[in-house]
Amino acid sequence: MLHRRTAETEPSAPPGPENHLRVEGISKRFGHFKALDDVSFTLGRGELLCILGPSGCGKTTLLRAVAGLDRQDAGSVLLDGRDVSLLPVSRRHVGIVFQSYALFPNLTAAQNIAYGLQTRGMPRSRVKDRVEELLALVGLQGQDRKFPSQLSGGQQQRVALARAIAPSPSLLLLDEPLSALDAQVRSRLRMEIRSLQQRLGVTTLMVTHDQEEALAMADRILVMDRGRALQAGTPDEIYNSPGCPFVASFIGSMNFIRDTVKESPRTFRKGSLRLLVEDSGPMPDGAAAILAIRPEDIEIRQNGEPSRNLLKAEVQRLEYRGSNFRVAMSLLIEDSEASLIEADVTAEKVRKLRICEKTRIHVDLPTHRLLVYAA
Ligand SMILES: Nc1ncnc2c1ncn2[C@@H]1O[C@H](COP(=O)(O)OP(=O)(O)OP(=O)(O)O)[C@@H](O)[C@H]1O
Ligand SMILES: [Mg+2]
Repeated sequence: MLHRRTAETEPSAPPGPENHLRVEGISKRFGHFKALDDVSFTLGRGELLCILGPSGCGKTTLLRAVAGLDRQDAGSVLLDGRDVSLLPVSRRHVGIVFQSYALFPNLTAAQNIAYGLQTRGMPRSRVKDRVEELLALVGLQGQDRKFPSQLSGGQQQRVALARAIAPSPSLLLLDEPLSALDAQVRSRLRMEIRSLQQRLGVTTLMVTHDQEEALAMADRILVMDRGRALQAGTPDEIYNSPGCPFVASFIGSMNFIRDTVKESPRTFRKGSLRLLVEDSGPMPDGAAAILAIRPEDIEIRQNGEPSRNLLKAEVQRLEYRGSNFRVAMSLLIEDSEASLIEADVTAEKVRKLRICEKTRIHVDLPTHRLLVYAA
């Protein structure tokens, strides 16, 4: 697979009226600091989009602009084709769940969930039924009279979720709803949230900096860095066709072979090494490039096995990971500094080929798995 795409933010956006939410060119400054820089994306009806990026890249700022909690400096937010950019949060019909549960400590679980329904004027008897229905929906039957301090972190976040979906919002906004929970609760709750979201069909925007969470839950992922939207796509597109080195390295593990030069339409040179790729796109011959490949795509070869990109390498380190080993090795390239790369090798193969530190092995970098980026 080849990647020469420039940063693209909408390779798979559903067209027209299917776009429930459309964010167009949002920018936001805090003093001289640009927290959001011309961010655009769309969200289809019933879709779950994860905004993924490192700490401080502007995820919460973007979510708050969509919610109407903070006003952007430029750009617009359209819900169902209607420009809501100037409307306050109370008139956007959104449900919000924050990282810190943000429940009212002096209200019980049931009262917390009922709060938004009562302020919207729902009759008491209907509120009671709706709260019971919601408690069951988030798996909290029988916990209605407990106060937040009497509930675990996971249970508090279920209450927060029930409270957010109680008035059947048009859009559900989740800002790192799971990050305060321990790993086990987190992975269970993420599956529950996803299945609830699908059952209700509620259009959802969820912020996370956890790539595993994004890959597991999202219909599509928007990757951000330093206030900019770098790429949007399905988890499969983001993982297998990252549009730039940042996306490639932020999601999963990636090896980079730097300082290569394009020699001909399909070959790249680094010192004495020649690497063949499937297609290098419009990059001119002589251009500086970075090649990239994931550890699971590198294959260990026994002598004599045919291969297009067969390289010699010396094993530096093995790390046991249960089902496989992560093997760090330096590529032995004449007239060039050694490149260190990592490959995932099955435990069986490590034993069979007696791979250990300082062993010299052959590796194949399959042509169709090499990604190409302009340096
Ligand atoms: N009210 C504010 N005043 C000044 N700077 C702010 C304000 N809010 C956010 N920032 C800055 O804007 C940038 C983006 O912040 P934001 O909270 O959106 O990041 P984030 O991606 O949500 O990070 P995290 O993953 O840590 O929650 C940060 O550098 C932050 O310091
Ligand atoms: Mg944040």
